[in-house]
Amino acid sequence: MARRNHTLAQLKESYLFEEIAKRKARFPQDQLLNLGIGDTTQPLSAPVISALQEAAAKLGCATTYTGYENAFGRTLLREAISQKIYHGKISPEEIFISDGSKCDLARLQQLFHPECMVAMQDPSYPAYVGATKISGKERIIFLSCTPENQFAPDLSELPQIDLFYLCSPNNPTGHVMDHEELKSYISIAQKNGAIIVFDSAYASFIGDPSLPRSIYEIEGSKGVALEMGSFSKMSGFTGVRLGWLVVPKELYFQDGTSVREDWMKISATCFNGASNLAQAGGLAALSEEGMKTSRNITEYYMENAHLLKRSLHLPTYGGKNAPYLWVDLGGKSSWEVFEQLLCDYKIVTTPGVGFGAQGEGFLRLSAFAQREHVEQALHYLQRL
Ligand code: MLT
Repeated sequence: MARRNHTLAQLKESYLFEEIAKRKARFPQDQLLNLGIGDTTQPLSAPVISALQEAAAKLGCATTYTGYENAFGRTLLREAISQKIYHGKISPEEIFISDGSKCDLARLQQLFHPECMVAMQDPSYPAYVGATKISGKERIIFLSCTPENQFAPDLSELPQIDLFYLCSPNNPTGHVMDHEELKSYISIAQKNGAIIVFDSAYASFIGDPSLPRSIYEIEGSKGVALEMGSFSKMSGFTGVRLGWLVVPKELYFQDGTSVREDWMKISATCFNGASNLAQAGGLAALSEEGMKTSRNITEYYMENAHLLKRSLHLPTYGGKNAPYLWVDLGGKSSWEVFEQLLCDYKIVTTPGVGFGAQGEGFLRLSAFAQREHVEQALHYLQRL
């Protein structure tokens, strides 16, 4: 008889956003005001649409048809990310194009030994815990990130950690790490011989030039960090699916083997390259016109964040240089408030406890909503 991967029993009954989707489905006839999942709502830019159409037309013609892509991604796209996102600090060969960060997150588990001690922020994006557990790693330490510690946990008493997950701007709290905070993690990683998995999915929402958009802005980080990047929130590719993983040449395991070389083995074995359509769209998103449109859309979402933050009466964190707001419910249960908002006002939010134990008593609001939804929802959210 086939034996089940026993770690699956440790996962919740259903993934957070599946659970929310189930609860939403109870109101099929209603127009719901969606401030829940961080899903983009604004259309793709004109250059992206043209590139997608052109790429699709090429696939329909015998002379221009192409099949498999390079498993590591198109050279032109890797070069464009190197220049436009990392300003040449990261070379194209260190950038691996993927079908999105969530899939990278799952695949990269295979790099690490199951006995690794893993640390993650609490609250954090639920896929970090899920993917870690599915891969058989059971030694997980949760670092409390609360308003009391300004979302920066005390790192002085940590045991030996092998792997850290960090996300900035943070999902769900909206906290953005400054250079000093990132440096403290990098120095612990250096001392422990640990590796940081830095999630930069929301980097394009950082408007303040004094804040780091990438971990590679900090000296010494190339020897300790992987970085996940994404077109999802930056360019509205949540449905198109395109991301990347940076694996620096300077990154080595404890036994001296190259992480990048192992990543190439995993990628070539488990992945056949991102979709040719998505990669054509990604290149267009990084064109001057594509980036200009993305910046305008980012401003639209950030105006939503500003409206929400300005109008709520409850203590609210994030929403500045970050598309998520973290609302302190003053001791109320986050699922109870979620239910009340959904049932009474048809507003979809995300209960903080879905991101970890420290999220209980909080509610996450997403600014990726349509402006009309934000304005209508505000009317009720102000009563909280
Ligand atoms: C979220 O709402 O936390 C994210 O958008 C979900 C995701 O990126 O998978």
